[in-house]
Amino acid sequence: MAVGYSIAIYTIARVFITAFSFRSRVPFVPSSRASVIEIAKLLSIKAGDNVIDIGSGSGTLVCALARAFPKGGFTGIEINRMLILIATIRKSILRLGNVEFVAENAFNYDFSRFNKVCMYMTSDFNDKIMTFLEKQLPIDAIVVSSVFDFGKNFMEIHESEISVYNIVSSKNSKKLYLWIKKQ
Ligand SMILES: C[S@@+](CC[C@H](N)C(=O)[O-])C[C@H]1O[C@@H](n2cnc3c(N)ncnc32)[C@H](O)[C@@H]1O
Repeated sequence: MAVGYSIAIYTIARVFITAFSFRSRVPFVPSSRASVIEIAKLLSIKAGDNVIDIGSGSGTLVCALARAFPKGGFTGIEINRMLILIATIRKSILRLGNVEFVAENAFNYDFSRFNKVCMYMTSDFNDKIMTFLEKQLPIDAIVVSSVFDFGKNFMEIHESEISVYNIVSSKNSKKLYLWIKKQ
């Protein structure tokens, strides 16, 4: 009975959160387990790394990475305050001291202290945010985008520097795009 109520409440909450998130033009869809594992490999996180998930949603990816790499620092930036609340509760339940969630529009944020970036947004969003990231990130910073490429303009200019990976799981197949900032 209790399990049934929990599933019903969770389902209703997901419907509301997804509906509200359409206002930001990038809907809330959490990363799958298969994606989390592959993103962690591509970011090759080490002690002292500063990692940010742009559009961190309910904190699925940030919390999974922070648990796996306790010596890294992790930030999730998210425009939807309801999702920030859920992510903060998740962080507390998991007792993660190396995570912070910031309620902010990514276009008003300074990314210069991060050397590892992940995002699961849209190509249009990526095209705009990559102009900021290209200027602000330190040399050798790694950016991984789930599902969507870095946007038409950015892809045209940086085509030779971008690697594409396929994640094939039992449910579907997705792409991950990787770019490393050079001189
Ligand atoms: C596909 S979800 C990503 C979920 C999360 N990164 C994960 O891997 O589980 C995209 C998120 O981006 C957020 N978002 C959309 N526009 C944003 C903006 N300008 N700044 C910050 N977050 C934004 C949405 O609210 C949504 O939760």
